[in-house]
Amino acid sequence: MNPEHLQTTLQPINQSTHQPEPIVHCPLSIVNYHPTLKQYILILLTHTISETRAEISKQISEGKTIGFVPTMGALHEGHLQLVRQAAAENDFVAVSIFVNPIQFNNPDDLAKYPRTLGEDIKKLEGTGCGLVFAPSAQEMYPEPDTTEFDFGELDKVMEGKFRPGHFRGVAVVVKKLFEIVTPHKAYFGKKDYQQLAIIKRMVEMLNMPVDIISCAIIREPDGLAMSSRNTRLTTEERIEAPCIYKALAAVAENYSWFIPSGVKQLVMGEIQECPLMRVEYAEVVNSVTLQPFDDWNDTEHAVVCVAVYLGSVRLIDNIELF
Ligand code: PAJ
Repeated sequence: MNPEHLQTTLQPINQSTHQPEPIVHCPLSIVNYHPTLKQYILILLTHTISETRAEISKQISEGKTIGFVPTMGALHEGHLQLVRQAAAENDFVAVSIFVNPIQFNNPDDLAKYPRTLGEDIKKLEGTGCGLVFAPSAQEMYPEPDTTEFDFGELDKVMEGKFRPGHFRGVAVVVKKLFEIVTPHKAYFGKKDYQQLAIIKRMVEMLNMPVDIISCAIIREPDGLAMSSRNTRLTTEERIEAPCIYKALAAVAENYSWFIPSGVKQLVMGEIQECPLMRVEYAEVVNSVTLQPFDDWNDTEHAVVCVAVYLGSVRLIDNIELF
């Protein structure tokens, strides 16, 4: 299918309701309303790098700015908020859906990662997304990628310590995706706080012409940070899950009564009270360097980050203190 055929921009069907009609025009495209352009557009689904490049070049040649949201799919409200923000701040929005095998250090986690492309595309209706790039692993890695990065101490702590090779895998795929999509702005959630810091560092190190936009954590009404992994929690685990955020919110209220290492102990203790939970780490770190510190006066901004096993599901969360 030639992407040119799919890019007819439609006139608004009903501007007053702003509700897109989910009309399926052909297997590769569905109608979507772009809130900023106030127009109905087609979501183009691409699987190859060349189709994606062709579409992005066309948009750029028309003077459009490109917003980009990289994801691994199994989309939830946390992802959709990134897409909505990208649509509010850019003329054209691309979303990638790719379960990146090289960032998984646990084969079981990779095998169990939900893959729900059809449902994901339906969820993108009404968000302003114009293109979904869903490549195969063969398309992204025709050859094993040997790129190495030196992130200094940034990837030696927390997730980097417990998931060796994870951030190299993330950086390799995000660099490739940036080179394919050439976005003006790319949107990442603070839910993956360390990932965000590492992507910012990579962009700086490689002088990449893209603005990295940090977006707030989206939570369930009971405080649990939204995550594709939440669907794997049993009923009992799901009932206990909000305890992570409760512990973080409690220390965010009262941290100034304690020294930083005391806050770390406090949050660990609170979470360990929940019988189904096992804390892998809890750290109080500088928001930019991600290194621990001894005195509140030693840092301008601080964040508490945790990784917790709830049964076999590993969840991460964090809260900014100041
Ligand atoms: P994924 O886990 O699918 O997350 C995609 C983006 O959504 C990330 O920027 C993540 O921080 C953000 N996100 C997830 N849950 C969120 C929530 N509850 N609130 C706000 N933002 C949230 O992160 C990855 O994929 C991958 O590592 C990727 C960057 C795509 C590279 O493969």
